[in-house]
Parts: sequence; structure tokens; C-alpha cells
Amino acid sequence: MRVLIFGASGLLGRAVMRAFADGHVTGTGFRRQRSGLIRVDATSRDAVWHALDQARPDVVVNCVGERHGRVRAEEPARAHELNVSVARLIAEATCAYGVRLLHISSDYVFDGIAPPYRPDSWCRPQGFYGRLKLLAEDMVRAVHPEAVILRLPMLYGPVEYAAESDITEIAQEVSCGRPVELDDACIRYPTHVDDAAQVCRRLATAQVQGRLVGTVHHWSAQHGFTNYQIGLRIARHFCLPAGHIKAGVRDLAGGDQPVDPRLDCTDLRAVLGWPPENDRTFANNFPHVVAPWVRSICP
Ligand SMILES: NC(=O)c1ccc[n+]([C@@H]2O[C@H](COP(=O)([O-])OP(=O)(O)OC[C@H]3O[C@@H](n4cnc5c(N)ncnc54)[C@H](OP(=O)(O)O)[C@@H]3O)[C@@H](O)[C@H]2O)c1
Repeated sequence: MRVLIFGASGLLGRAVMRAFADGHVTGTGFRRQRSGLIRVDATSRDAVWHALDQARPDVVVNCVGERHGRVRAEEPARAHELNVSVARLIAEATCAYGVRLLHISSDYVFDGIAPPYRPDSWCRPQGFYGRLKLLAEDMVRAVHPEAVILRLPMLYGPVEYAAESDITEIAQEVSCGRPVELDDACIRYPTHVDDAAQVCRRLATAQVQGRLVGTVHHWSAQHGFTNYQIGLRIARHFCLPAGHIKAGVRDLAGGDQPVDPRLDCTDLRAVLGWPPENDRTFANNFPHVVAPWVRSICP
């Protein structure tokens, strides 16, 4: 199976590259150049088509996106371009080449008022990012009806800089000791990128084998935490003081995020038969991920 991953230099894309490492995989980056990646500006139609022409994949995984709040606030046009326009370009190109497409979306397409959300639950995003992700989904479905869409929640895993994931950003804020207010209203379901990447691999394989066509799927860890609870856990684990961490009553981005967008993954668990019920827990896995970003005062 030949796989082309757009956005392979990002948090999720790197994990998806690892998940396909034993196969025939091509990854693209843009600003971050790495050996083994080709540089593709996915906002350019020609560049996307050229990448497909070169790689001749059986399946494409689109991990390009812009989820950082600062960019969304300061450069909304860029956020639209990377989340929506790129999704359309990749969908058009894959459809024209007759290539399977796995498109990555987000739990932010839901309002977070009545969880859990099934793949066919009504989408009603609360903020700009969620609206972009939903627009992208609609675009992908319209252009490439056979594409598969995978909605994911908050991801964590090995990062290249602290702000690359919310968890490591929280860890850095907690460990620097300055007063910090962390949201204690919105529940998130931190999911390890390697689990999400394994799901991508299994979905992509099922697509190429013709077992999945034009469906929407959910994947998520099942334990929920607020950012405040995550901050306290990090402080406790690394023996850091916690007096400077204050519970925020509503998310700091201005209340435009879903309060509890828990994803119902029953269908996908049944389709994939993986992983077993006791998949990896946040409690056991966050310490490895945040350790490099925490100044520990443990003995
Ligand atoms: N992270 C999460 O918590 C989370 C949760 C749910 C869903 N998602 C979704 O998962 C997907 C991947 O997210 P992520 O966290 O891995 O994002 P990320 O770490 O910010 O990676 C974004 C990727 O997009 C690439 N990119 C940016 N501009 C590009 C351009 N003009 N042309 C081609 N590629 C470009 C980046 O390449 P360079 O860095 O090399 O420029 C990078 O590989 C997104 O759709 C996101 O909405 C993420």
C-alpha cells in the first residue's frame, strides 16, 4: 500500500509517519524541512497535484491544519486557507486521481452541550475553529464522496516546542511558577497521537481494501479532564507547587469552545476491533510527554 501524508511534519502527521514506517510512505512538510519529507505548499493546486503525481499513492492522509488560537485570532484568513481551502484542494486532487482520502477533523464541530456525540450527531460548532473544521468536512464530502473523515479530540505526544500541544503548553505554564488561570469548565479527552495514528493506519488500510467508503468516524480516549485538572496533575506528578494555578470559570478563548464534546467511538471500535478495552491512559502516559517541558523539583 502506497501512502501519502500531507502535514507529516506536524504533531499528528509525525505520528502517522511512524505508524506507516514499515510501508511505502511519503510525507510532506512545509516550513519544517526534515529528511524523508518533501516540501509541498498545499495551498497551491499545482503543488498538491504534483505531489500526487510523484507519489502515486493508494491512499492520502490529510493532516494539514491550523488549530492554534493565536493564528485563528490574528490571521483568520490563513486559518481558513489551511483548514478549508487545503482540504478542498486535496479532496479534488485525490478524487481526480481515484485515490482514497482520509481527512482529519475535530470534536470542535459539536456544541458540547449533550455528549456523547456519535458520528451522525448534529454538528453545531461554537467557535471559529469548529466552523472551519465543519466547513472543511462539508467541502471534502461534496468533492470526494468516498473520502473518510476522522474526528479527533485534544492530542498529546512528543512535541518539538511546548506550544505544539495544549498539554505541554500547560506543563510549561505550571512549571514556570507565574500565576496562571486554567479553564475548569471545558472537558477535554487527551488522546495520545500514537493511538490516533494507529487508528489512521487501520482506517486507511480498510479504505484501500474497500471496506470503508464515505464514512465519518470518531476516535478518542474516554477519560475527560479540564485544563485546570490537567495542570494540577502535572504539578502533583512533578512535585511542583500549585498555589499559583487558578481555576478559570470559562475557557480563556472567550467561551467559543464546546464544554464537553465527548466522542462516542463505539462504531469505530467495532469496525476496527482495536484496541482492546484497556487502551493507554492519560495518567500513565502524560509524564513522558511533558517531562522535557517541566522544571522538576523532585529529589
Ligand atoms: N492537535 C490536536 O490537538 C488536534 C485535535 C483534533 C484535531 N486536530 C486536527 O489534526 C490535524 C493535524 O493537527 P496537528 O496538531 O498535527 O497540527 P500541526 O502540528 O500544527 O501540523 C500542521 C501541519 O500542517 C502543515 N502545513 C502548514 N501550512 C502548510 C502549507 N501551506 N502547505 C502544506 N502543509 C502545511 C505543517 O507543516 P510545517 O509545520 O512544516 O509548515 C504541519 O505539518 C489538523 O486538521 C487539526 O485540526 C488536531
